[in-house]
Amino acid sequence: MPISPRKTAASLLVLATVASASASYAAEPARPWMNTKLGPDERARLLQHEMTQDEKLALVRGKFGAAFAGAPPPLDKMPEGAIGSAGYVSGVPRLGLPALQESDAGLGVANGGHMRPGDEATALPSGLATASSWNPALAREAGVMIGAEAHAKGFNVLLAGAANLTRDPRNGRNFEYAGEDPLLSGVMVGEAIAGVQSAHVISTTKHFAINAQETGRNVVSSDIDEKALRESDLLAFEIAIQRGQPGAVMSGYNRVNGTYASESPYLLSQVLKGDWRFPGWVMSDWGGVHSTVAAANAGLDQQSGQAFDQLRAGIFMQAGGKTTPAEADFFGAPLKEALAKGAVSQARLDDMVHRILRTMFDKGVVDHPAASAPIDRAAHAAIARRAAQEGIVLLKNDGGMLPLAASAKRIAVIGGHADVGVLSGGGSSQVVPYGGAKLELPVTKGVAAAFSKISYGGVAPLKALTEASPGASVTFASGQDLAEATALAAKSDVVIVFAGKWQSEGDDSADLSLGDGQDALIAAVAKANRKTVVVLETGNPVAMPWLDEVGAVVEAWYPGSEGGAAIADVLTGKVNPSGKLPMTFPASETQLPRPKIDGADMPTVPFFGVFQPFSARYVEGADVGYRWFARTKAKPLFPFGYGLSYTRFAYAKLATVPGKPLTVSVAVANTGSRAGVEIAQLYVTPPGGTPRLAGWTRVPLKAGERKTVRIVAEPRTYSEHTEKGWSLASGGYAIAVGGSSADLPLTATARLGAR
Ligand code: BGC
Repeated sequence: MPISPRKTAASLLVLATVASASASYAAEPARPWMNTKLGPDERARLLQHEMTQDEKLALVRGKFGAAFAGAPPPLDKMPEGAIGSAGYVSGVPRLGLPALQESDAGLGVANGGHMRPGDEATALPSGLATASSWNPALAREAGVMIGAEAHAKGFNVLLAGAANLTRDPRNGRNFEYAGEDPLLSGVMVGEAIAGVQSAHVISTTKHFAINAQETGRNVVSSDIDEKALRESDLLAFEIAIQRGQPGAVMSGYNRVNGTYASESPYLLSQVLKGDWRFPGWVMSDWGGVHSTVAAANAGLDQQSGQAFDQLRAGIFMQAGGKTTPAEADFFGAPLKEALAKGAVSQARLDDMVHRILRTMFDKGVVDHPAASAPIDRAAHAAIARRAAQEGIVLLKNDGGMLPLAASAKRIAVIGGHADVGVLSGGGSSQVVPYGGAKLELPVTKGVAAAFSKISYGGVAPLKALTEASPGASVTFASGQDLAEATALAAKSDVVIVFAGKWQSEGDDSADLSLGDGQDALIAAVAKANRKTVVVLETGNPVAMPWLDEVGAVVEAWYPGSEGGAAIADVLTGKVNPSGKLPMTFPASETQLPRPKIDGADMPTVPFFGVFQPFSARYVEGADVGYRWFARTKAKPLFPFGYGLSYTRFAYAKLATVPGKPLTVSVAVANTGSRAGVEIAQLYVTPPGGTPRLAGWTRVPLKAGERKTVRIVAEPRTYSEHTEKGWSLASGGYAIAVGGSSADLPLTATARLGAR
């Protein structure tokens, strides 16, 4: 039975609003917590002492921060005091505590969907693109940029820091994340978080943890052995949290081994707050809370966008769910009641509040209040462009077809709406770039149809390429008409086909194909002219049935506001590509641990998708991505860590440097005729195990130049997680260095671990 969210939930939702007035942030002697000489914990204690119980309760009950057109009340109205985005938590004006104004996400200040109509922001390339740069300094700079933009738009919390590992290359949200490797993800995401927070904006890291597929995300149980979880997805978070010190952690929608992440004592109390001593607060995902007492006692500190839990409860009730919308106001009246009964202790509520307050002081959101300020758009665009340039991965380049030769006078550009802009991913992270969305197409099926549009914007590749090729004539064909496209291809010196695959939060793709007839278009064009370059704008790996027929392939991901310019920079050779894949491109779905996505055939309801609990068994354990391919000896289409350059690199002289942790030195030479950057990767294989990326370094080299560089290993990548923590078994560990997980010319054995 189809269920309308409006009808079912409108009558069921009765929501309290907490009045808020404009805050005054001035330090007054009567407010000792405003003394910046005191530490954040002391300041939090002083402030909390003055708070009433209702003020404390209001702080742990986050609201949706925007008006959601067409949704039932109160989602259809913005809470008073909110500036319009994902989340709003009222402050305590009488005590000078500002409200939390929360915006998505890690790719820029999100303003898509129903958030702030008319608002525009600098759109970074997708998280996968930034991860492809393997450049932590760039991730940090990008974080500084979006943090500054968030602050200048009045936000003091950015729901950034998405660190979920790619366990399935069809996952609709992979584009927001940083790939399949715990070290690469942890480092890149951690740096981005640190960047955001340098602007006095609290960053989250999310979605904790193993929120590895969108299909059934509200009910699925991610089932995995705890040791394997520690050595994979949790390791990514451990590293990201250590490096980035995020103020908040957002729990995932999913269950982990049967227990919802938002009420998992293992994840929240044992691992995060216990083993990792995380001092910040845990907020839920929007509509990701399922209990009051269990969640509060497990360590959830704040319900976010609480009306989404009520909306979900109303919709699920229609499908047999037991929780009523009133009960689903979990950290509202039900929490008050649980406190009165003693089912949740006052000490626990005080701890929740303390964690929020101490973080607000610690990250500077009280002392440096976010407020409307001018944005240096040109400087921000330059960062977005550099991020896109460094994130582009050259996958194939037969006979040096790229960069485009000066002799290419007739350039055909075909498909992908390259005349309009570049593709971006859908869902909460969607940024409307400066200049606005140039083309929006409706989403016709799936969960995302309710909140997403297929959107193109930013610099149009056609325009950028035309400007960058003054001596050539650049002609465009949309690709809709195959005959027109092949005729243009046949009479051109070179053809550049743009192909895209839209992905969004809420849905996974059924398979790896590009779709929309694009494979046929590429094959036909390549048949008409072998000098065909394919530029991909995708949120995931795609299958390439035409790979042998084309000359070159460029993976540009979703390249952000300046992506069109960055693509032209790479095609024309102004920039020598240096990106390396942060995830394996499989040759087919049959190579994956789950050839078919669990839950894909189950019945769904609007907004929340699958409603019957099911389990996704992560049989690969910690052997995610390339480690799974190594274990099964399967040959991917393109391996993890792979990416070409317009020059060539050679490796020599691998040696271990005495001392701990394991450090190697290696000589890397640029043997080609152009300057370039190599990403030298170190893999360590424990006895009997699979190879792990243990470290890397970026090596910029002029033509003919050679440098000896050091790569320091992260021991946790090749250690075991035991009940006592990380432990390095003694033995001979195979070490290997090179330019991709599948091209490691230098090998050695190191004796590691306790004697
Ligand atoms: C997403 C989060 C996001 C939140 C607020 C949820 O649907 O899973 O990543 O931060 O919405 O927009």
